[in-house]
Amino acid sequence: MTPLVELRQLMKKHWDAQEKSELFSDVTTTIEQPERIALLGKSGQGKSTLLRILAKLESVDSGTIYFNGQLMSEVDSRIWRMNICYVAQQATMLPGTILDNLMISSKIHNRTFEESYARQLIKAVGLDHLDWEKHAGDLSGGEKQRIALVRSLLLRPKILLLDEITASLDQQSKELVEQLLIKFHQKEKIGFIWVTHDIEQAKNVSERIWYMEDGTLASDVKTSVFLDDQASSPTQVKL
Ligand SMILES: Nc1ncnc2c1ncn2[C@@H]1O[C@H](COP(=O)(O)OP(=O)(O)OP(=O)(O)O)[C@@H](O)[C@H]1O
Ligand SMILES: [Mg+2]
Repeated sequence: MTPLVELRQLMKKHWDAQEKSELFSDVTTTIEQPERIALLGKSGQGKSTLLRILAKLESVDSGTIYFNGQLMSEVDSRIWRMNICYVAQQATMLPGTILDNLMISSKIHNRTFEESYARQLIKAVGLDHLDWEKHAGDLSGGEKQRIALVRSLLLRPKILLLDEITASLDQQSKELVEQLLIKFHQKEKIGFIWVTHDIEQAKNVSERIWYMEDGTLASDVKTSVFLDDQASSPTQVKL
């Protein structure tokens, strides 16, 4: 069977070449089917850069990426991003209301806006009290993050690339988001690669861990194996 995603020998140069020539290299892995992956590693390893490359928002210096057997460079960016959707840490709201923001994906991709589905999602992330006519720019950081997530889910992507998306959420909202994404994985077969510095969150949401260290994907194992290794290892991973 064709794997969902294949990464072959990805290399990205560091933009400050004097510091070191490569941000990361030799990143090779396969996702066979929609999976829940947590992407860990200390600050500056290139986690966000890798997600942005996978979303076709940034280029790679060498290596190849396939989605469903199709080479990234041969797929139209708009189509690619409908399937593999990046949700940034700093959510950007488009000018206009919350409703304008929720409708944007359907407008760009020529799809009907699914209002009742949008309402379900908004409720699931704990934002059902919001008036959709409210100016999106006035929302708090945590509200913007959740609107951005719902905006992406409305696209019905195959894979979500989640970049520290609960970083400015309170514990309850964070748990709602975690539960929603686990449910989406179970029911809709949507997989994710979720960057987090929170090992508890990785434990809660993932079944597989990608750990970046020393400029590469140093570890790619089941979450249970990663956690067991951690418990028995004298050197703790750096998050
Ligand atoms: N487009 C780029 N090309 C090359 N290097 C970049 C690029 N964007 C960022 N960098 C550099 O690469 C390093 C890693 O950045 P990145 O944001 O991917 O790290 P990160 O692992 O997500 O870190 P954090 O956990 O702090 O979010 C930084 O030193 C950054 O300056
Ligand atoms: Mg980052």
